[in-house]
Amino acid sequence: MSKGLRKGLTSYGDAGFSLFLRKAFIKAMGYSNDALNRPIVGITNTYSDYNPCHGNVPVLIEAAKRGVMLAGGMPMVFPTISIHESFAHPTSMYLRNLMAMDTEEMIRAQPMDAVIIIGGCDKTLPAQIMAAASADLPTVVIPVGPMVVGHHKGEVLGACTDCRRIWSAHRAGEIDEAEVEMVNGRLAPSVGTCMVMGTASTMACIAEAMGLSLPMSATVPAPHAERVRIAEASGKRAAEMAVSGGPLPNEILTAAAFRNAQVVIQAIGGSTNGIIHLTAIANRTRHKIDLETFDALGREVPVLIDLKPSGQHYMEHFHHAGGVPKLLKELGNLIDLDAKTVAGGTLRDVVAAAEEVPGQTVIRSVVDPIKPVGAMAVLWGNLAPRGAVIKHSAATPRLLQHTGRAVVFDSIPDMANRIDAPDLDVGPDDILVLRNAGPKGAPGMPEAGYLPIPKKLGRQGVKDMVRISDARMSGTAFGTIVLHITPESADGGPLGLVQTGDQICLDVKGRRIDLLVDDAELKRRQAGLGVVGLPEWAERGYARLLYQTVQQADEGCDFDFMCSRQKENVDR
Ligand code: FES
Repeated sequence: MSKGLRKGLTSYGDAGFSLFLRKAFIKAMGYSNDALNRPIVGITNTYSDYNPCHGNVPVLIEAAKRGVMLAGGMPMVFPTISIHESFAHPTSMYLRNLMAMDTEEMIRAQPMDAVIIIGGCDKTLPAQIMAAASADLPTVVIPVGPMVVGHHKGEVLGACTDCRRIWSAHRAGEIDEAEVEMVNGRLAPSVGTCMVMGTASTMACIAEAMGLSLPMSATVPAPHAERVRIAEASGKRAAEMAVSGGPLPNEILTAAAFRNAQVVIQAIGGSTNGIIHLTAIANRTRHKIDLETFDALGREVPVLIDLKPSGQHYMEHFHHAGGVPKLLKELGNLIDLDAKTVAGGTLRDVVAAAEEVPGQTVIRSVVDPIKPVGAMAVLWGNLAPRGAVIKHSAATPRLLQHTGRAVVFDSIPDMANRIDAPDLDVGPDDILVLRNAGPKGAPGMPEAGYLPIPKKLGRQGVKDMVRISDARMSGTAFGTIVLHITPESADGGPLGLVQTGDQICLDVKGRRIDLLVDDAELKRRQAGLGVVGLPEWAERGYARLLYQTVQQADEGCDFDFMCSRQKENVDR
């Protein structure tokens, strides 16, 4: 197979001419024949003025290029879409699959023997890894790394768990306008990704635990020199892989790797988004994530990492305590150490080199965990025939078994209009229900599942209520929140049948979420629902593609035609 510049020639009918033309054009950039005859390592560039999480990408690209050249390769940087959580309308998830397609097609279209993907903000690493799994070219992942922590009045602050806490306190009248403005400038004190165990940190930890990035890649803070050295080392390794032709993503992304990733999500108190993204990545390979297996792992894997929102520390503390290698070591035989990594060996080598940090308390042992069981549980019931997820490690324990009266919001705009209305009929034991917020309904399944506590209840000191929806929730959020109800209401799911005043039973111990309304009445309500036509927003372009082909949460929300056709179940 052709390598380097000869790879994937543009079709002019005459291969010799195609190469001649390609070389003529690239020489306009000043490259020599020596440079052009080297193995090529492509490097994605997701720098964007709209993406502060990726603010250090130019520095990481320079370091990765240096590493590639030190190993005798030729680096070539190319742009792809960049997505930031706060700058993507209607929501970043709406664009994840577009980024995955863009990245995959650019890897396929341009000549490269290996690729380095640099990303971090929530949807970027999932999109890039989905692309890498489909393109199946030797790939090294470099996460951009977490922000360092902020400080306010002697308190340590972090995006965005504390963003929500501070905003709730402001809504409840506990923090005035002047102070909330001051805190606003301190929550994100550096470039890099949110420094709690949100989706970005979860996906970086998963990438490292699956062997897609070099050891410690997930946790080194974004501004640290060590991250730049990791980028250089990743560049070197990618150049070696460009020559050897492996390992390929599909040799790394094995059944063992997917199982390890699920163990790690549970053990780190990971983001609920993590399981959707992992499912989408698995669906790009011959493997499959099974929610029953994920739930079963949650019963045997303890939470070992003491990070917000489940615990109290931040990513830099996890890093200084030994990072993912030390976590894998503590997980012992819950992890399959024979899984391969891009470093060239297996997780056994990674664990053997794990640093011991005397006195650290951020990474616990299985005999002294933060929580004896994993972070997440999967619920089923007549409200969620194909499943729903709850991060019970960040919930209020007394609400995990709860029956209450439904207060229904028909859409996100409906919720925004009514949640703070003084005349809203709601009490602290009610269950807030949001629907039409799933992959098709919103669209893009926004992180609206963290319904705010109605202002009048917040002012009475209510900090948490049971909230359920077909939406997602930021991994940085906390509360007794049931998410990803599948199928979503806009796809005919039973969430669409709930009426204000109905009783709902949440039974996390029994893994159930049920609407306590008899079947005959539900059938009557179902018959009353009209046929849903193509919504106006989905009439053209990318929106139409998404509406017509996006899968439900239990399938990873990828486009149905992007999944691999060869499947085998992930072994437990
Ligand atoms: Fe980018 Fe949180 S906003 S990781």
